Amino acid sequence: MLSKRVLQELIAATKKYPTGLIVLEENEPKFVVVSYDHYQRTVQARKKSQLAAPKKVLVTGGAGYIGSHAARQLLESGYQVVSLDNLSTGHREFAQGEFVEGDLSDLVLLEELFSRHKFDAVMHFAAFIEVEESMKNPLLYFRNNVLNGIHLLEMCRAHNVKHFIFSSSCTVYGEEATVPISEEAPLVPVSAYGETKLIFEKMLRWHAAAHGLQAVSLRYFNAAGASLDASLGLANEHSTLLLPNALHVAQGSRDVLTINGNDYPTQDGTAIRDYIHVLDLALAHQFALDYLVENDNGRNGKFEVFNVGTGKGYSVLEIINAVCEYTGHMVKFEYGPRRPGDRPVVIANPGKIQRVLGWQPQYSDLKTIITTAWAWHKKRFGNF
Ligand SMILES: NC(=O)c1ccc[n+]([C@@H]2O[C@H](COP(=O)([O-])OP(=O)(O)OC[C@H]3O[C@@H](n4cnc5c(N)ncnc54)[C@H](O)[C@@H]3O)[C@@H](O)[C@H]2O)c1
Repeated sequence: MLSKRVLQELIAATKKYPTGLIVLEENEPKFVVVSYDHYQRTVQARKKSQLAAPKKVLVTGGAGYIGSHAARQLLESGYQVVSLDNLSTGHREFAQGEFVEGDLSDLVLLEELFSRHKFDAVMHFAAFIEVEESMKNPLLYFRNNVLNGIHLLEMCRAHNVKHFIFSSSCTVYGEEATVPISEEAPLVPVSAYGETKLIFEKMLRWHAAAHGLQAVSLRYFNAAGASLDASLGLANEHSTLLLPNALHVAQGSRDVLTINGNDYPTQDGTAIRDYIHVLDLALAHQFALDYLVENDNGRNGKFEVFNVGTGKGYSVLEIINAVCEYTGHMVKFEYGPRRPGDRPVVIANPGKIQRVLGWQPQYSDLKTIITTAWAWHKKRFGNF
């Protein structure tokens, strides 16, 4: 807070120098003072210049849960967006910007798409994502998450795309990782799904170094929540995730929620996870892209990984209690056995993304996560 005297001197000085003045300290420029009017005009001019040449981004998996939120975030910030999706788990009505229905294995379609649009960046969300399914049918996962990813990287190279953001996952870390898990933790995935994510990261690192691509891999923890206006959210009715299933029981469309294990070495015996709101994930993508663009020296490739989590964990029972509180409905549950490969506690150390990208979660408190997910759930799966 400025003292009254300093404020009066500043007002007098700005009257004398209406376009602005520089405050010196020991003859060195220390501050610039401009009128608020002048400041606003400068900010608007900057916004306009950004809008004049919007970056064009290809969002693969743009009709999916996280891709659609990220695409909307980009559009709202003035980027042009093309969403590519084969609608295997995505929904046409979620896709933002221009929508192209197609599969990453279709090289003719990819060639046409990349030739028609000169993409400045690619955000790669398209993948199969179910851990249990990946254990039953690993090759399905390697084909889609690895082989199709190679097609995409080859297109990026052929069409000189400079910036690439990849949706990775905390499943790349080993079971022995120290909690909170930092990016340096050992990479020993215990599922075929996690292995596909790790293999793609490794390919991306080598590819970036060889061809000057600027790439970021974002390792998400547990994505949750929905858009504030309840127009986008998780639409997979058969999801194995805790929160959507708890909401189904709260809504009455399912009788009981099975908790997988209550004998973990945690305070209440149930597993603890780090929940990150999908809007915070979307913002992380934009921050990552801005970071790549700002730090691109036009020569060397870059590959960076960042955890995207809050650093805070909630147990299954804490989530169920919160669902009861924020929905006003009971959630009946029963205990079942542990699921193979489930770890007791998975919490991110988000220090790197906070330090390097300046990203901070804004929506990832339990109340916002559950109330946005609930509003979306009621709209999608029927009011009652
Ligand atoms: N949901 C999470 O908690 C979580 C956590 C960590 C990482 N991720 C990663 O985030 C990304 C997005 O996940 P999501 O939760 O939004 O899943 P999602 O299933 O809603 O989205 C994936 C989208 O990709 C599309 N797709 C799949 N294969 C395709 C192909 N070959 N060609 C074109 N489109 C294809 C699907 O139709 C779908 O719309 C995935 O890469 C996933 O591995 C998700």
